[in-house]
Amino acid sequence: MCGIYGCCQRAKAAKSAIGGLEKLEYRGYDSAGIAFLEGEKIEIIKSVGKVSNLKEKVGERVSNLAIAHTRWATHGKATTLNCHPHTSKNFIIVHNGIIENFKELKSAASEDFYSETDSEVIAKVLEKNFENLTEIKDVNERILNSISKTQNQLVGSWAVILICRKNPSKIYAFKNKSPLIVAKGKGENFVASDINAFEKREKNLLKYYNLNNGNIAEISRENVYFYDEKLNKIGIKEIKKQCEIYQENCNFKHKMLKEINEIPEAIYSTKKYIKKSDFKKLSKKLKNYSKITIVGCGTAYHAGLYGKFILEKYLNKNVSVELASEFRYKTQIKEANELVLAISQSGETADTLAAIEIAKKNGAETAAITNVCSSSITRICDYVLLTHAGAEVAVAATKSYVCQILALYMLASSAAEKRIFRSLENVAHKAILNFSLENLKEFLGIKKFFFIGRLCDSATASEGALKLKEIAYVHSEGYPAGELKHGTLSLVDENSLVIAIITQSEILDKTLNAVHEVRARGAKVLIVSQFDLEGEGKEVLLPRAREEIMPLISVLPLQLFAYHYSDKNGLNPDMPRNLAKSVTVE
Ligand code: AGP
Ligand code: GLU
Repeated sequence: MCGIYGCCQRAKAAKSAIGGLEKLEYRGYDSAGIAFLEGEKIEIIKSVGKVSNLKEKVGERVSNLAIAHTRWATHGKATTLNCHPHTSKNFIIVHNGIIENFKELKSAASEDFYSETDSEVIAKVLEKNFENLTEIKDVNERILNSISKTQNQLVGSWAVILICRKNPSKIYAFKNKSPLIVAKGKGENFVASDINAFEKREKNLLKYYNLNNGNIAEISRENVYFYDEKLNKIGIKEIKKQCEIYQENCNFKHKMLKEINEIPEAIYSTKKYIKKSDFKKLSKKLKNYSKITIVGCGTAYHAGLYGKFILEKYLNKNVSVELASEFRYKTQIKEANELVLAISQSGETADTLAAIEIAKKNGAETAAITNVCSSSITRICDYVLLTHAGAEVAVAATKSYVCQILALYMLASSAAEKRIFRSLENVAHKAILNFSLENLKEFLGIKKFFFIGRLCDSATASEGALKLKEIAYVHSEGYPAGELKHGTLSLVDENSLVIAIITQSEILDKTLNAVHEVRARGAKVLIVSQFDLEGEGKEVLLPRAREEIMPLISVLPLQLFAYHYSDKNGLNPDMPRNLAKSVTVE
């Protein structure tokens, strides 16, 4: 997935790039690299592992221009050779995305390749095009033409920042599908994968621009010029940065713990500000759609499972939920008056974006619930509902999930003209305060987990299981409680912990049946419920709210449990192995 950063800034460019990478590290952290102009010379430094390793290697350097990369490998292991920047004779590039036709392009290139990455081919193709454009005398124009030609040859997704040795006072950036934002300042200009990567400046000193597919940016210390794919100079509409809940300095050991503790504030802000987006327009239309399909990946998909439950209950209408990665390839059946609603914290998940594009082609109206107002999804959907969870950088989604559920609840209530339960942030606060690790210590060494629940509690079960496997590397499964006996029960034994989420009174007894069945097979049981069920097993007692909104509360102890399990086992919950926050590749 990778984070890329580039800047032109007096003396401090290398430092700024390392600072930018630190903020982008959530996007990938298996290796990092930088290229910067020191005097007349371009220095390239690479390092395997976290950005802190690179920072140590780079030290204090005076530089006016730098490009940098923090990697999540798609092609080739995390080695120094595969680490970006990648080079050809004149070009030094950093890349986020996948070049799908890299093999084909590789065989046509004139230089030798040294890495296993797909990205290196971009530098080589740029070089070849540059060599072939000798008729263009102006070097800036020649570089721009080489970029334009290269973009036409590439297939796949890319956000690229580059330096050309023939004109090292500028950086250039171009993109297709992967995100790229330019920040324009006074005597300093930046470009990066995420608006939150830029240095903080006094109010309005930086102006932000979100590049469209095919756009090219030419960036120097003094100026930024934008071009379309045919190299016509264009203007791009300025975008505003969202107000941030996120505070840099905090007393929490990890970002994930901090983000869980921000949940009450995130709920408050989402409730207050979501109505400023297309909320009213969409909620008014909701009843009229003949078909509603929710799409998302991972945690966002689990929010969708809750969405199905709440929309069906309040609108009395069939709603389906699909994994975006499956939806994009399945047979599309055209239906008049269909809504496809995507859920995505980042708004950049490649599968979710592709699902929306396909839905649009199929004639559906599209909507997004997202946490990032400058994200790609906001630009392709007909309706955008912005959650206001604040920046979430720990890989595990926590506060964003709660806000997605809240958005779905508010949407369903508004469409059904029901009043919403108001004091949610207080209930969430209570649930966080009530959490006691002391009570759960005996479970911290268990290696086999089953999370069960029925209806909307089964969405919570899936989410609880995902959190644990994601950050604690423990085998865990989330199951609708009634399904256990159809196969999975054979895995349940005295070494298992079954966590039963029971928040819906109508089916309380039914889930308890499953609890009895697993206990009969020797499993340990933990119940998460607002009902006093202590006699049934060890219990995490939840504060009460309306039953239909309990999934917003019951997930909190599960997030905290997964966090502590990971931390107590000496892992880094913020940066789990093999993963990255924003999955911008397929
Ligand atoms: C959640 O903890 C995961 N990191 C992951 O499942 C995530 O929710 C998924 O990749 C979707 O991301 P998105 O919400 O940004 O689209
Ligand atoms: N495909 C490139 C690599 O493997 C970039 C990866 C990415 O952006 O996810 O290095």
